[in-house]
Amino acid sequence: MYTEKVIDHFENPRNVGEMSDANGIGEVGNPTCGDITKIFLKIEDNIIKDIKFKTFGCAAAIASSSMLTEMAKGKTIDEALQITDEAVAEMLDGLPPQKMHCSNMAADAMHAAVEDYRKKLGA
Ligand code: FES
Repeated sequence: MYTEKVIDHFENPRNVGEMSDANGIGEVGNPTCGDITKIFLKIEDNIIKDIKFKTFGCAAAIASSSMLTEMAKGKTIDEALQITDEAVAEMLDGLPPQKMHCSNMAADAMHAAVEDYRKKLGA
């Protein structure tokens, strides 16, 4: 039921972990199932130099987080903000309809992390 890309990113997730020197952190919970994704960003000169994630969730959620980190790494903040949940699911060659909600956390948590970064800058 999962695509090869989903299975690959679930079994070998990219950019897993925490980041002690993150300058933007975002956390989003999934109201459908109670799972959580946390995204850590290191932004320098408007570029996402590094990104890590911690996801307490199902295979689809972990694969989505992993794919999202690959899509966002090296992008400018504005480019990263254009990445949507749907784009992440598409890059995974799709998710089963009943698991689409699982792809809703990764991009949202990254957007929240950018907001956190901007808030800290303004402080
Ligand atoms: Fe919770 Fe997939 S079942 S994110």
